[in-house]
Amino acid sequence: MVKPSASLQTVGVFDSGVGGLSVLKALRRECPSINFIYIADSGNAPYGSRPPEFIEKRIIEIADYLVGAGAQIIVVACNTATTVAIEKLRARIAIPVVAVEPAIKPAVARTKTGVVGVLATERTIESAGIAKLCREFGQGVALLLQPCPGLVERVERGELATDSTREHLCKLIQPLLAQGADTLVLGCTHYVFLEPEIRRITGPEINIIESSEAVARQTMRRLGDCEAVDLDLKPGDETFLTTSLPEVAQPIFSLLWGGSVEVRKLENRSACASNLACIRA
Ligand code: DGL
Repeated sequence: MVKPSASLQTVGVFDSGVGGLSVLKALRRECPSINFIYIADSGNAPYGSRPPEFIEKRIIEIADYLVGAGAQIIVVACNTATTVAIEKLRARIAIPVVAVEPAIKPAVARTKTGVVGVLATERTIESAGIAKLCREFGQGVALLLQPCPGLVERVERGELATDSTREHLCKLIQPLLAQGADTLVLGCTHYVFLEPEIRRITGPEINIIESSEAVARQTMRRLGDCEAVDLDLKPGDETFLTTSLPEVAQPIFSLLWGGSVEVRKLENRSACASNLACIRA
């Protein structure tokens, strides 16, 4: 168990796996003095092929753990978790929850051809959450929703620039370009780590849009609301936890984070421990 922090500057971040590190990097740039606790639920990834009930239960357990560990804000760095279960999570957790979601609104504002491709997990594509985003922001634009089975697993294994990943991406992306898409939404935080390969396929003219910077700015605003930010504080630190094997996770975390980091085991047991104080009745 991570020791609860007494200071007003701890943010808990979680994802089904290592993809949310793309959000954590943006958070670190935006919020230099904040302490982050990051949980990769890689022992249960991918969420994209899990039933919604599983995702809902799991993210409440993880958020509960983060509150118990001293988080004052929770950042959901997983589009699948957001689009499937964010309302249930917000109804249960008594601290602010900032959540990444597919960047359909900015993509619709950017497209010139009126065709936008959205790359996301199967569960996100089928979710009520993405249907709502399409209804609210997608009027007058063709939104091509492309499920991408297998991509999360590749990033979990650190296979970012292999021939096989490139071929896989080509099969997913070329049909979208052939239908006139000039803008692609990376609707899964894992895919951000594949952006250089995606760019090689699209060429320089296509807009590639993801949400990590927007989430970091929103988190900073919420921290301001909590009066949690003291600009004179020393630089914050990161605690990295995984539900898979730390020795397997450590090189992948270090690769994606861009420097060697220590990764510790989060026992499923700990993440399931009830912390009634943080749960709304
Ligand atoms: N990074 C998660 C997302 O943004 C991946 C979900 C999964 O494990 O399928 O959706």
